Amino acid sequence: MSEQVSGAATLPAETVAELQELMGRYPQARSALLPMLHLVQSVQGSVTTEGIETCAALLGLSAAEVSGVATFYTMYKRRPMGDHHVGVCTNTLCAVMGGDAIFERLKDHLEVGNDETTADGKVTLEHIECNAACDFAPVLTVNWEFFDQQTPESAVELVDRLRSGDTVTATRGATITSWREAERVLAGFEDGRVDEGPAAAGPSLAGLEIAAERGWKAPDVDQADSKDNEVPTESAEAGAAEADTARAESETVAEESDADVKGGGSDD
Ligand code: FES
Repeated sequence: MSEQVSGAATLPAETVAELQELMGRYPQARSALLPMLHLVQSVQGSVTTEGIETCAALLGLSAAEVSGVATFYTMYKRRPMGDHHVGVCTNTLCAVMGGDAIFERLKDHLEVGNDETTADGKVTLEHIECNAACDFAPVLTVNWEFFDQQTPESAVELVDRLRSGDTVTATRGATITSWREAERVLAGFEDGRVDEGPAAAGPSLAGLEIAAERGWKAPDVDQADSKDNEVPTESAEAGAAEADTARAESETVAEESDADVKGGGSDD
């Protein structure tokens, strides 16, 4: 079953209806483009040309404008994905804590390069940038769910379990489904599992626990406001005076240098 959208290729009618539902969730329909692209991925396994044209026609944009968005953000895939997306963080902290070693081991084990899919279509491997989970480094994600403090060995075991269809649960998050199902959730169609699994754990809460032990707390809003309006202290005033002096000196040097250039140099 399909529905023709004026000026566009076709997608299944139910997908077009859901794209329109997403558009209706925003005061400006074009604000729905990002979730719409996630929905296209959930249906077609990537952001296809057909999907781009359909979104463009629905939103009154050009295909080039939609394509510009789809190619800017790395979570949008222009090539067909495997059943599972495995992302290995190789940003600085994870890299030095073992992320680079994990990525190399997985490439060898899966016999794929970056952004490639295994021959059985089960896993697409990608190295990804910081996932804001540095306190659990090195981390990897499966369909954007976290797997914390991994090793090359645990990562190999994880992808083997994914490929064999075992039930796999994220260390902080839900039971792993498929990449397409996760994309549908990202599009804004909840699967009812938002509270499944733990959301925070040890390292993320360490600061909170220390603060509780020591009785530390954030200043209340009134105090914070009055601090913003405080008259500068002596040291702040001294710092400002020093900055003024440095600025005046650098302006003098710049003026002298300008005069030298205009005068063709004074030493001749
Ligand atoms: S460097 Fe890997 S999560 Fe931040």
